[in-house]
Amino acid sequence: MKIVKYIMAAALLTSVSAVMAVEAAEKAKKDPAQLMRGAKSWAATCGRCHNIRSPKDLTDEEWEVSATHMRVRANLPGDVVRDIVAFLKASNNEKVED
Ligand code: HEC
Repeated sequence: MKIVKYIMAAALLTSVSAVMAVEAAEKAKKDPAQLMRGAKSWAATCGRCHNIRSPKDLTDEEWEVSATHMRVRANLPGDVVRDIVAFLKASNNEKVED
C-alpha cells in the first residue's frame, strides 16, 4: 500500500530517502548531491503537516505548482524547495512524458 510505504519512508528518513535519491539520480542523470539533499528535505519536511505524498502522485508540472503552494503555505526556504522539486521530478518517471 502506497501510503504505508511512504509512512515507512518517513520513519526511516535518511536511509530510505538516500537510496531513493541515488536511484533517482541514476535514472534522471541529475546531480546526485542535489537529489540527496532534496530526498532528505522531502522526508524531513513534507510529512510534517500531512502524510508524505509519493513523488509519483503528480507530474513535473503539478509538482511545480504544488511545491510553490507548499513553499508559501509552510514558509519553506527557496533553495530547500528547489532541491525537493528536483528530487520529486527525478522520482516520478512513470508519469513523465518526454
Ligand atoms: C506547514 C504545513 C505543511 C507543510 C510543511 C507541507 N504541507 Fe503540503 N499541504 C498543507 C496543507 C494545509 C494542505 C492542504 C491545502 C491547503 O490548505 O493549502 C497541503 C496540501 C498539499 C498537497 C495537495 C495539493 C496542493 O498543492 O494543495 C500536496 C501535493 C502537498 N501538500 C505536498 C507537500 C510537499 C511536497 C511538501 C514539502 C515541500 C509539503 N506539502 C509540506 C500543509 C503543509
